[in-house]
Amino acid sequence: MERMETWREACLVPLERMKRVSDAMLHKMDVGLSETGTNLPMLPTYVTQQPSGKETGHYFTLDLGGTNFRIAYIQLSEQVSKVELRREAKWNIPKENMEGTADGLFGLLAEAFKEFLEQLESDGIPLNRDKIVLAFTFSFPMDQNALDSGKLLFWTKGFNIPSCVGKDVVVLLADAMHRSGIHGVVIPAVLNDTVGTLAAAQYFDETAKVGVIFGTGSNAAYVEEIEKIKKMRAKDYHSKHMVVDIEWSDFYTVELPIMSFDRKLDGESLHPGKATFEKMIGGMYIGEVARNMLLELIGDNILPAPSPQGKIFLATNDVIGGEQVAAICALQDVLGGELVALTERLGYDDETIKIAGPVIQEIMFLVSCRAARLAGAALYSVLRKTGRVGGVTTLPTVVAIDGSMFEHHHLFRKELCKSLAELVGPEAKNIKLQLSKDGSGLGAAIVAAVADLGAQ
Ligand code: GLC
Repeated sequence: MERMETWREACLVPLERMKRVSDAMLHKMDVGLSETGTNLPMLPTYVTQQPSGKETGHYFTLDLGGTNFRIAYIQLSEQVSKVELRREAKWNIPKENMEGTADGLFGLLAEAFKEFLEQLESDGIPLNRDKIVLAFTFSFPMDQNALDSGKLLFWTKGFNIPSCVGKDVVVLLADAMHRSGIHGVVIPAVLNDTVGTLAAAQYFDETAKVGVIFGTGSNAAYVEEIEKIKKMRAKDYHSKHMVVDIEWSDFYTVELPIMSFDRKLDGESLHPGKATFEKMIGGMYIGEVARNMLLELIGDNILPAPSPQGKIFLATNDVIGGEQVAAICALQDVLGGELVALTERLGYDDETIKIAGPVIQEIMFLVSCRAARLAGAALYSVLRKTGRVGGVTTLPTVVAIDGSMFEHHHLFRKELCKSLAELVGPEAKNIKLQLSKDGSGLGAAIVAAVADLGAQ
């Protein structure tokens, strides 16, 4: 079981190693603010005003970034920090649209939007068809030089449509709307989901300074002083601050505990050589990490050989999902629920399950702990970058977090909080990790509303 010992040591990322990972990230954040083309892009978002809670108006939002997309109609009330109305619908994105053509993907969005507008009208909600204000949450790295335009830098997660790279996604969306016969659409803002999550939290609480996604993918955004974004040429802003989209998916340092199974996963992935960090912490990958670890254990006879059917099952990509990893970690009884379901797929009989079950559960625990502790180290870097942690005192700060890993994977969430407490020390009590469920859609409406106010 020497192999298990090595994995335990690496996956339980000791405090000193978390600190070194965080130091490396902090350093790369500084470099990314001055230079373009680094693996921590630190992207200017042109979101320069913090919402006050007094924003009003009604907005449509379209949120694209995971395995499904959402459209919402949101009315911000005259009353402070109050959402008057929120109507929302969600669609799955077929795999062929994630890897097909730009027209295919954006056409799908436009057709759904058309359907959504018709549904609202048939429900008796009056719409001004001459001016439909739509804020676009596009959860991929963008090169922005204004709030209402963003060129896709590269795809992440399960998307790969090469013809979109380098294109302004606002133009792609607007053109698709035209093709679908929807006129009068104005798109005043395009933003990352982390930026939306942050804005939504700020609408309710001014101490929110960081927005994070721990979901299919992972990333964070925070409030930076414009003066420190050295690579940005235009400095004539009325505001002193701008939200920066860190884009930590591709972050790399030699301090990351990268193992043989990570390299295998990377080689078989849609974006080999990219998203090194995200592949260690994202919900889209965590099941794959576990599957590759199990394959190694079976190859080394540490786990019993599966049945021929079980072998085929385990050799198939993505058969273990993030939800399953979370469920197995949460099991009190090792011989129950999802763990039995998995071991049965491997073709183990009752006796074998008794031996293999605890080992498999430990694997799920190790991949989840590693993800949480690396996520904690990353979060610690962002908090230090905001200056709210690491000074004489730790300032009360809300970190708004959305995503399935944080919401549903209890062990991940617990270990994340624990790792942050280890890194920050007793003052960690001033840092509130707050679930901001579906915040990115609401945040887009708020960012559009702030832009509207500014324009008046
Ligand atoms: C990926 C995207 C990033 C997004 C994150 C969470 O890392 O590149 O833009 O914020 O996933 O959805």
